Amino acid sequence: MRKIVIAGNWKMFKTQAESQDFLRDFLPTLEETPSEREVLLCVPFTDLNILSKSLHGSRVQLGAQNVHWEENGAYTGEVSAPMLTEIGVRFVVIGHSERRQYFGETDETVNLRIRAAQKHGLTPILCVGETKQQRDNGETEIIIINQIKRGLVDIDQSNLIIAYEPIWAIGTGDTCETKEANRVIGLIRNQLTNPNVPIQYGGSVKPNNIDEIMAQPEIDGALVGGASLEAADFARIINYQN
Ligand code: 13P
Repeated sequence: MRKIVIAGNWKMFKTQAESQDFLRDFLPTLEETPSEREVLLCVPFTDLNILSKSLHGSRVQLGAQNVHWEENGAYTGEVSAPMLTEIGVRFVVIGHSERRQYFGETDETVNLRIRAAQKHGLTPILCVGETKQQRDNGETEIIIINQIKRGLVDIDQSNLIIAYEPIWAIGTGDTCETKEANRVIGLIRNQLTNPNVPIQYGGSVKPNNIDEIMAQPEIDGALVGGASLEAADFARIINYQN
């Protein structure tokens, strides 16, 4: 059985004080959420420590948005896996398109980060996705297959989540057609040796489209950006209707 995992990716939003305001409104809404749904918040590094304390005893699990492959060293601006696990972080987003696009992340560095995360017991969320131009050129399949193959060299697929996030659908309100997202996610699954890896869809997931997205048979959850910043919106998303 594949797990259902709904994750919020706060990106570079929310101070610690704002994170606490969010939780005050959000945590009570979890009472309605079916127990088999895993709920995560992937937050800026500066919010991790306080959220680790505030989420203690709740069913919301904590994720970071990046991790370095070394345990320590002269890598200014980076954070290592032991630094994350020490404060109760369990998940980490790796290879988000914003990191690939703005910070020079490659399939090779993505692979190194995933290895380090797993070595220290973190569950990586590997993000893949094509640009609008690549889609228009008919290159979606090859781009996605390459990102998966190169990102997953020597990776343990029993401790892994994948997120398919078409870049043109991120933050644009231009959601990928649910059937098309389902098709690409099926294609990703065909590349894997473990058929039970949860594969999420991400890109303009909102309260008004989550029910349709989750009705697709290949889609095991969502990676939610903008709509995870508002407690009521994220609550509606995790409480999607079957
Ligand atoms: P939006 O939900 O804001 O489109 O962002 C998606 C995303 O990038 C999640 O990682």
